Amino acid sequence: MNVQWYPGHMTRAKRQMQEDIKLVDLVIELVDARVPASSRNPDIDELGRNKYRLILMNKADLADSRMTELWGVFFREKGYFVRTMDARSNSGMKAVSDIIMEACREKLERDRKRGIKNRPVRAMVVGIPNVGKSTFINSYAGKSCAKTGNKPGVTRGNQWIRPDKHVELLDTPGILWPKFEDQEVGLRLALVGSIKDEILNTDELAVKLIGFLTAEYPGLLRERYEVREDEKSAEILMQIAKNRKCMTKGGEPDYSRAAALLIDEFRSGKLGRITLERPE
Ligand code: G4P
Repeated sequence: MNVQWYPGHMTRAKRQMQEDIKLVDLVIELVDARVPASSRNPDIDELGRNKYRLILMNKADLADSRMTELWGVFFREKGYFVRTMDARSNSGMKAVSDIIMEACREKLERDRKRGIKNRPVRAMVVGIPNVGKSTFINSYAGKSCAKTGNKPGVTRGNQWIRPDKHVELLDTPGILWPKFEDQEVGLRLALVGSIKDEILNTDELAVKLIGFLTAEYPGLLRERYEVREDEKSAEILMQIAKNRKCMTKGGEPDYSRAAALLIDEFRSGKLGRITLERPE
């Protein structure tokens, strides 16, 4: 089990976040663009009350761009500022700076009227594990300033880093835990790799993924694995095992290896750009 799931860590991390949020004007929430709803923790709306709110839809390079657009509309209608992003690339960071300024325009305007000039906007990054928080801080603020591999619950002093002269960013992101009272949410998070594989059955995940892909992205599995999509999902998995030579020592199709291969190819984008959920 992933160490980050221990309740003690979760409580400490949340308490830390409550403190940290008091210090900022803006909460920058990262979500995974392949699962924009499931990768949010609804507690953030309570925690980030009275703050400016920006959602960065990260890993957009892996998501279906049509769906990303729909999700952008959905979040904007709910009052969030939104940008899509590939946190590994520095080239999108100017757009992030711009949207931060836009999200905090009201505050900047207020400062200006009071004669306060050039006071930077203070922001913190939050999100569930693995959405790309550390990668983003590194790209945005430069490798030398940001710490990576943050562990929840580790005591530390607050440090601010300055990606540019307008913004101060808390150096440590706030970690939220995904909520999956809904089993579907858990499945989607497992598919994108946010929940460790050990606590889930890979075969079952692969069968779910096949069901989803044949319904929402017809032709994709047929083209990549030369399978018949009108079969049951478990049968399709067996065909993938055969066609990709995933065999047991006894010469039988090895479902688990085929399942791992399929999930790996999905996560790495080899299957194409796929979004697992659409807005309501
Ligand atoms: P976290 O702090 O929120 O926990 O996430 P972190 O930055 O550690 O990123 C998790 C993984 O996601 C990293 O892969 C990182 O390279 C990848 N990643 C972050 N942003 C993007 C993005 O926009 N697009 C893509 N395609 N990948 C992104 P890793 O270190 O290789 O871990 P893993 O892939 O082995 O899980």
